[in-house]
Amino acid sequence: MKTIFSGIQPSGTITLGNYIGALKQFTELQENHNCYFCIVDQHAITVPQDRLQLRKNIRSLAALYLAVGIDPHKATLFIQSEVPAHAQAGWMLQCVAYIGELERMTQFKDKSAGREAVSAGLLTYPPLMAADILLYNTDLVPVGEDQKQHMELTRDLAERFNRKYNDIFTIPDVRIPKSGARIMSLQDPHKKMSKSDANQKAFIALLDEPKQIEKKIKSAVTDSEGVVVYDKENKPGVSNLLSIYSVLEGSSIQELEQRYEGKGYGDFKADLANVVIRHLEPIQKRYYELVNSEELDRILDEGAEKANQVAGKMLKKMENAMGLGRKRK
Ligand code: TYM
Repeated sequence: MKTIFSGIQPSGTITLGNYIGALKQFTELQENHNCYFCIVDQHAITVPQDRLQLRKNIRSLAALYLAVGIDPHKATLFIQSEVPAHAQAGWMLQCVAYIGELERMTQFKDKSAGREAVSAGLLTYPPLMAADILLYNTDLVPVGEDQKQHMELTRDLAERFNRKYNDIFTIPDVRIPKSGARIMSLQDPHKKMSKSDANQKAFIALLDEPKQIEKKIKSAVTDSEGVVVYDKENKPGVSNLLSIYSVLEGSSIQELEQRYEGKGYGDFKADLANVVIRHLEPIQKRYYELVNSEELDRILDEGAEKANQVAGKMLKKMENAMGLGRKRK
């Protein structure tokens, strides 16, 4: 059975982009893979966070993982900071990474642009992500398209470590979904949908209420043609809405284009709002049952215990390979 690892930052509201690009794949993959899913809180502190809000977001994300269908009997769900091997291995991989390659990361460039004080952690974020993945002998990492560059660096670091020290890491492959790998902002379809967007209308949060969802979809930017056709270049807004529709309903884009032939954007958007609302309804219900439950704590405790065992073994191998500490029998 192949091993899967993926993580999500608890840095704000989880969006439909996170769901379609990542979470939705996770629930499918857990059926026939050995899965680790992580709440990467240490990645979240690379930019300023309010401590109380961060704690809330961590719990909320854990509940959402379960609410979308992650089954703790099939997958290991845990919080990154509760498994110290991540930060330890992250440090070792920082010593394998070059500053030049870290400075070339587009996420670093985007997030540091225009900021006066940029934390060192924002630059050294990718080696920590590499550590997350490599500690578990991961074969496959399901992520959205925006993480492709970080995944290439992870592979480079793993290969460099194997060559320089000892051949201990599995080289992981990236798995990007065929459709919905990059869900775009509803207000600017040239930008990805992001939980940190200042404009609330730009994203749908998984916990948005039906009325909000309806409003946001109605006000989504399209074009003046009034034709429901997929054309990413010339009709990015409509194409984005078609992608969301297609993934959530499980219909092909072609089928949808036929269904809306001769109809305007009004009908199309109203139906899409219904599809999104109906899709999120059971997730939200389960979320509110779980978020303050003891069950959630129990699942996270068990997840951390299992993750600590597995990650601890690889950490030892890394220390041995690099010559850290003392040799022990
Ligand atoms: P994060 O928290 O920004 O996003 C979590 C996941 O959601 C995907 N995603 C999207 N997919 C489609 N359309 C969008 N608009 C969209 N926005 C986000 C992301 O690609 C990601 O899969 N660096 C990671 C977190 C991380 C990680 C890891 C991931 C840390 N360690 C180890 C995998 C393995 C991040 O910032 O994701």
